[in-house]
Amino acid sequence: MDFVNSLLNLVVPPASLVMLAFAWPTLCFIRAIEWAFRSFYTENMEDKVVVITGASSGVGEQIAYEYAKRGATLVLVAKRLQRLRGISEGARRLGAQHVMIMAADVVKEDDCRRFIGEVISYYGRVDHLVNTASLGHSFFFEEAIDTAVFPHLMDINFWGNVYPTFVALPYLRESNGRIVVNASIESWLPLPRMSLYAAAKAAIINFYETLRFEVKDEVGITISTHGWIGSAMTTGKFMLEEGLEMQWKEERESPASSGHVEEFARSIVAGACRGDTYVKVPNWYDVFMVYRVFSPDVLRWTFRLLLAPQGKPIMLDSPPRVSGSRPMLETSSPRSLTGSPGFNHQHKVD
Ligand SMILES: NC(=O)c1ccc[n+]([C@@H]2O[C@H](COP(=O)([O-])OP(=O)(O)OC[C@H]3O[C@@H](n4cnc5c(N)ncnc54)[C@H](OP(=O)(O)O)[C@@H]3O)[C@@H](O)[C@H]2O)c1
Repeated sequence: MDFVNSLLNLVVPPASLVMLAFAWPTLCFIRAIEWAFRSFYTENMEDKVVVITGASSGVGEQIAYEYAKRGATLVLVAKRLQRLRGISEGARRLGAQHVMIMAADVVKEDDCRRFIGEVISYYGRVDHLVNTASLGHSFFFEEAIDTAVFPHLMDINFWGNVYPTFVALPYLRESNGRIVVNASIESWLPLPRMSLYAAAKAAIINFYETLRFEVKDEVGITISTHGWIGSAMTTGKFMLEEGLEMQWKEERESPASSGHVEEFARSIVAGACRGDTYVKVPNWYDVFMVYRVFSPDVLRWTFRLLLAPQGKPIMLDSPPRVSGSRPMLETSSPRSLTGSPGFNHQHKVD
């Protein structure tokens, strides 16, 4: 058996690469035909109900506007109700049929049951569930002062996807609906200071790839992955090693390049309505997966070269930092995230 495996180790990888190289143009052609077909029969979102978690900023907010332009009914969920109010007005102006806003913590199963329950009792259906709630962090693993931040980050970035999905799934089956997942290239291209975030994103991808088999064709799953784009995550909220949430100082001084966020949100919503399995922006990052499998050393050497001595990323549009090893931060009034953030359980329908 060891001999067989040794032989296969030698033969299968190069043979697969050669086969792929020959099959690649045909596979691309088939994918293009499928894409054109699905674009023609794209889902009409009028009278459809879309629940978006993490809708109070960044990608989630822009996704809300994109669904609004398609005439969907929106349910916007996040902890900051005040921000959701403004976004709901914008969404109605853009064409959303109805907008319901709800303050909820997606890490709490009871909160998820409450907001999905209210959606069902009010609208009677859920067609798309878009999970964008998340929290990044900016510290090396060894710098962490309080280990309580570890489960907190995993809770938001992993369980914050799983709980809403678990609660909404029976209704999504009924409507033949779709789950939209916001993963990240960090799941296969991890960068320093993002260990827990990258781990949660990798877990999410495996979770939804498995779920895809379990739900078969009854519920569609669109997994989106993207590199760094301008939003609160790259310019705003981050968790520090002490478990404090702080703001990138630059957020106030040079507004995020929101054009990228809008463009990304547009491609996610277009992909979801087309029934795409993946939305990758930009998709050339996929090539790193090939290196990771066939030549991980090349990838490691390249990244060592690209990173500054203290592990400071110098490319891939990473968040701006000052010259030391610490990111430049707003110093006033950090808000502890290790405790439960205070918010009211309320909802409002416009
Ligand atoms: N921006 C990027 O460069 C980038 C790159 C790769 C992947 N992504 C992915 O894209 C998605 C959105 O990222 P983003 O950049 O738009 O982040 P963001 O602007 O920081 O938004 C995160 C959202 O999650 C909400 N949230 C956080 N914890 C929550 C909780 N416990 N319960 C309910 N809502 C919660 C926040 O609202 P409240 O604070 O009001 O609750 C906020 O609306 C994430 O999945 C992220 O991983 C982003």
